[in-house]
Amino acid sequence: MPPELPVLIVATRNAHKTQEIREMIGDRYKVLDVNDFPALPAIDETGTTFLENATLKAAGISREVTGLILSDDSGLEVDALGGAPGVWSSSYGGEEGNHPKNNARLMAEMAGKTDRAARFRCTMVLAQGGQVLAYFSGTVEGRILEAPYGAGGFGYDPLFAPEGHTQSFAELGPEVKNALSHRGRALAKVIAWLEARD
Ligand code: IMP
Repeated sequence: MPPELPVLIVATRNAHKTQEIREMIGDRYKVLDVNDFPALPAIDETGTTFLENATLKAAGISREVTGLILSDDSGLEVDALGGAPGVWSSSYGGEEGNHPKNNARLMAEMAGKTDRAARFRCTMVLAQGGQVLAYFSGTVEGRILEAPYGAGGFGYDPLFAPEGHTQSFAELGPEVKNALSHRGRALAKVIAWLEARD
C-alpha cells in the first residue's frame, strides 16, 4: 500500500480555486476544501485587504477543523478603474460569485478605455489550530481584452491576457495559467515553505 498523503484543506467553497491548487500541489498533499465539511459555518469576508480576508478564512476554518488549512484571497486590479474591483472582485457585478455579471460590468466600465493594464493578486495564508503559520503572495501583470475569449478557467479569465501573451487565461489553458498565475506564484512559495518545514 502506498503511504497516505498528508491532507491540506483549502478554506474556500470555490471549486475552481481548489482544482487549480490540487493540480499544482500534485502528489505532495491530498487537497480537500470546505465543501468536504458541509457543517462548517461560512466565514464573513469583512476585511478590506486580501491579507485580512485570507487571514479571516484560514484562521477561522482552522479553529473548526483539525489539520493544515490554506486560504486564498484573490482578485483583479485594473489601473484605469483605480484598482477596482480589487478585494470586491467576486461581487463586482452585484451578486456574489456571479462571474458572467462580473465580466459584463468589467466590459462596460472598460468601454473606450485605452489604458488596459491590470493584474491579478493572490494572498495565501497557512493556519493550524487557530494560529497563522505564514502568509504568501503572488501577482501576474497583464491587460484587459476588448471582449471575452476562451472557455477555460473561471472568473475574469476570458478577459485577462497575461504579460507576454495575446490570448486570455481562458484560452491558454490550465498548464500555462498555473505556470504564470498569481495563484501559481503564491502557491510555489507555500510549497517551498512546507518543504523547508517538513
Ligand atoms: P475571493 O473568493 O473573495 O478571493 O474572490 C476571488 C474573485 O477574484 C473570484 O471570484 C474572481 O472574480 C476573481 N479571481 C480570483 N482569481 C482569479 C483567477 O485566477 N481567474 C479569474 N478570476 C479570478
